[in-house]
Amino acid sequence: MLAAPTVAGMRRRAVARAPGRVNLVGEHTDYNDGLCLPIALPQDTFARVVVRPDERIRIASAQQTSSWSGDLDGCGPGRVDGWVSYVAGVLWVLDQEGYDVPPGLDVHVAGSVPLGAGLSSSASLEVAVAVAVHALSRPLLDSGERRRLVEVCRRAETEVAGAPTGGLDQTAALLSEPDCALLLDFQDGSTTPVPLGWSAAGLELVVVDTRVSHALTAGHYGARRRECEEAARALGLASLRDAEEQGVHRLTDTTLRRRVQHVVSENARVVGVVEALSRGSWTRVGELFTASHTSLRDDFEVSCPELDLAVDTAVAAGALGARMTGGGFGGSAIALIPTDRVEAVRRAVDAAYAEAGLGPPGHLDAPASAAARVVEVSG
Ligand code: GLA
Repeated sequence: MLAAPTVAGMRRRAVARAPGRVNLVGEHTDYNDGLCLPIALPQDTFARVVVRPDERIRIASAQQTSSWSGDLDGCGPGRVDGWVSYVAGVLWVLDQEGYDVPPGLDVHVAGSVPLGAGLSSSASLEVAVAVAVHALSRPLLDSGERRRLVEVCRRAETEVAGAPTGGLDQTAALLSEPDCALLLDFQDGSTTPVPLGWSAAGLELVVVDTRVSHALTAGHYGARRRECEEAARALGLASLRDAEEQGVHRLTDTTLRRRVQHVVSENARVVGVVEALSRGSWTRVGELFTASHTSLRDDFEVSCPELDLAVDTAVAAGALGARMTGGGFGGSAIALIPTDRVEAVRRAVDAAYAEAGLGPPGHLDAPASAAARVVEVSG
C-alpha cells in the first residue's frame, strides 16, 4: 500500500497536462530491471476534472466520439475497456491506494500525442488524469508524490487496461526535465537527468511516425515479456539485468538466447549513449542508436518493414543514427540528424514510403521537453 496522507478541503476543479515520450535507447529493458533513456515530448494530453454533486463518473475525450458514464466501482478491472480504461483505471487505482477520489467527477481529456504511434499517448493520458485528480486534494506534487503516481499509472495500465507494460512511459511523463534525457535504472529505482548538448552541436532529433498502429494489448508485447521471464528462470536469475554475455550460451533455446542477447547488449548501449553524450561524441551516439535498431529487429524481433524502411532510409540520407522507439510492431522511429540534413532526410523517407506503396509517414520534431504539471486548480 502506498502512503497517501490526505488534506482537508477538496478543490472543485483542476487541469493538468502530461507529455508523450520517445525513448532514445534502452528498449524492452524496463521490465527486465534494466536501463532506459527517454525524453519527454512537447506533444501532450490535457485532463480537466470537475467535481460533481452526485456519484456519477463521466469520461469524455476531444479525440473520441464515444463517452462513458458510470460509478467508481465500475472503473475497475474487467468493467471498462478501450481508451476509457486508461482514465477509469487511474481513478480506480487512486481510490484503492487511499487517495481522495470524489465519487462524482467529470473528466474531459484532449491531446496532441498521436494515438497508437508508440509515443506513449496512453501514459500521457493516465498521468494527466492522475495529476489533475491528485491536485484536487493535494497542493504538493514533489518528486516523492510523482514517483507514487508513476506506480498508480503503471498499475492502471496493467490491471485495468490490460497492457502489462514496464513503467518507462509513466516515469518519463512524470519525471523528465527539459533539454535532458532521463537515465532510468529499474533495478535500483534511480532517475538521473542527462543533459543533451546536441542542439548546440547543430543536430536535431526527429520522429518518423510509420502510421502503422501498434497496440500493446495485442499480445506480442506480453509474449516478449514472458520469454524474458522464462529465460531469467532458465539462467537461475531474478531478472535479465543480471545476465551476462558469457552466460547466454547456457540457454539451449535459440529464441530465448537471442532475446537475452538483446537485453544484455541494450543495457550496455544505454551506458554507451550516456557516455557518448557526456563527451559530445555524436557519431558514437548515432552508431549506438542504429545498433539498437538492428538488435531489436534481429534478436528481439519487434520491428516491422515500415520501421526498418524509415531507419535504413534516414541513415542512408545523412542521419547519424536511427532506430525504432517504444514497444515496436509499428509506431515510430527516431533519427539524429545534422539540422541542415533534416529536410533531405524527411523527403527521402517520404519518397521511400511512396515507392514501397505505403501511405505517407508523419514527421514530428522532438525537443526534450518538460514533465507533467498542474495547469490550474480552482473552486
Ligand atoms: C512500451 C511499454 C514500456 C516499454 C517499451 C519498450 O512503451 O509501455 O514499458 O517496455 O514498450 O521499451
